[in-house]
Amino acid sequence: VDVFEAIKGRRSIRQFADKPLGKETLEKLLDAARWAPSASNQQRWRFVVVTSPTVKELIKKFSPGIFAIPSAYIVICVEKAPDAGTGADVTYLADCAISAQNIVLAAYEMGIGSCFVLAFSKTALTEVLNLPENVEPLLVVTLGYPAETPEPPPRLALNQIAFLDEYGKEWTP
Ligand SMILES: Cc1cc2nc3c(=O)[nH]c(=O)nc-3n(C[C@H](O)[C@H](O)[C@H](O)COP(=O)(O)O)c2cc1C
Repeated sequence: VDVFEAIKGRRSIRQFADKPLGKETLEKLLDAARWAPSASNQQRWRFVVVTSPTVKELIKKFSPGIFAIPSAYIVICVEKAPDAGTGADVTYLADCAISAQNIVLAAYEMGIGSCFVLAFSKTALTEVLNLPENVEPLLVVTLGYPAETPEPPPRLALNQIAFLDEYGKEWTP
């Protein structure tokens, strides 16, 4: 798939076929994730892949953003720098979000559906995944073969969100 086609064709998939994702497939997605850019190439992302049926079920229980059990989750976490705490270094938020987008675009190319999920209990997820104190879960990506083909939710027009030279000055094609 052409990159632009993938960017436009990817949809959030919330219903999945009951078909597992192979280890090789999951590894390819992780590989896509780790090739994302990151501020100063810090790569503070950590990925926990969840395929155990019991753990998947448990995670869904405290995640209102998850609508059906997928074949796998990739939980994107940040391993905070030892001197973190001032709140000044939030570059990891951008880094982890970009790695997540790499995962969903690579998944799309492989015919795998996905959805970002932010609606979950951080405390519960931290406990279930046995995350150390300096590791925080940021984003869950659900993954599986799609069992639905949703219509694309509309996007704002470019002239509503893009400007030329200064904010408010209309962008015209
Ligand atoms: C940061 C982020 C958090 C999201 N959280 C959820 C979620 O908790 N549950 C869910 O079903 N979808 C979630 N979504 C998916 C959005 O609803 C979806 O991307 C948006 O409606 C556009 O649809 P599309 O992805 O098919 O283009 C999230 C997306 C992003 C980027």
